[in-house]
Amino acid sequence: MKSIVILISGRGSNMEALVQRCAAEGWPARVAAVVSNRPDASGLAFAAAHGVPTAVVDHRAYPDRAAFDAALAQAIDAFAPDLLVLAGFMRILTPGFVQHYAGRLLNIHPSLLPAFPGLHTHRRALEAGCKLAGATVHFVTPELDHGPIVLQAAVPVHPGDDEHTLAQRVLASEHVIYPLAVRWFVEGQLVVEGGLVRHAQGASQVLM
Ligand code: GRF
Repeated sequence: MKSIVILISGRGSNMEALVQRCAAEGWPARVAAVVSNRPDASGLAFAAAHGVPTAVVDHRAYPDRAAFDAALAQAIDAFAPDLLVLAGFMRILTPGFVQHYAGRLLNIHPSLLPAFPGLHTHRRALEAGCKLAGATVHFVTPELDHGPIVLQAAVPVHPGDDEHTLAQRVLASEHVIYPLAVRWFVEGQLVVEGGLVRHAQGASQVLM
């Protein structure tokens, strides 16, 4: 059984999708812990209610990023993760932290990377007149919202969309591709070569 640790900062709907699909589909893995940098993250209640251990490492208690990341890594490593999953974790991670989890650290970003790294992706996609939006699951490298792409979902931008309606449509696709990508990882199906990711059996890495 692979051990998965999930980091959240808030609502945790992607974490919920992962916990539910892991149990429902009998992955060769278990969600060993959900860790938040915010004590008030609403996702913590869902995790606790589903028997998943939780931990909080409040970034405000540390003098700098390096000290916070060291404490965070200590809390995470207590659960010996084979995979660390960022699910709406709203902190920039130090290169040392990312290096520590190299090859076993995934993120989901609500855009079709490499377009729109960073914040306010939906607003920026609307302002750019994009006709397609989407989400990307990728391995994490030290550069923000970069790294080898595992899976992408594309959704249409409808006339009259605002940030909220577009975000809702993208989020629904996130809840499909993140569990799929994590399942592939724990099943050992992801092959990373030359900065590119392929599925060992050739499964489609695109959701339209
Ligand atoms: C998602 O849109 C995710 O892509 C982004 O932050 C949001 C988190 O939502 N990184 P949730 O906490 O998983 O509901």
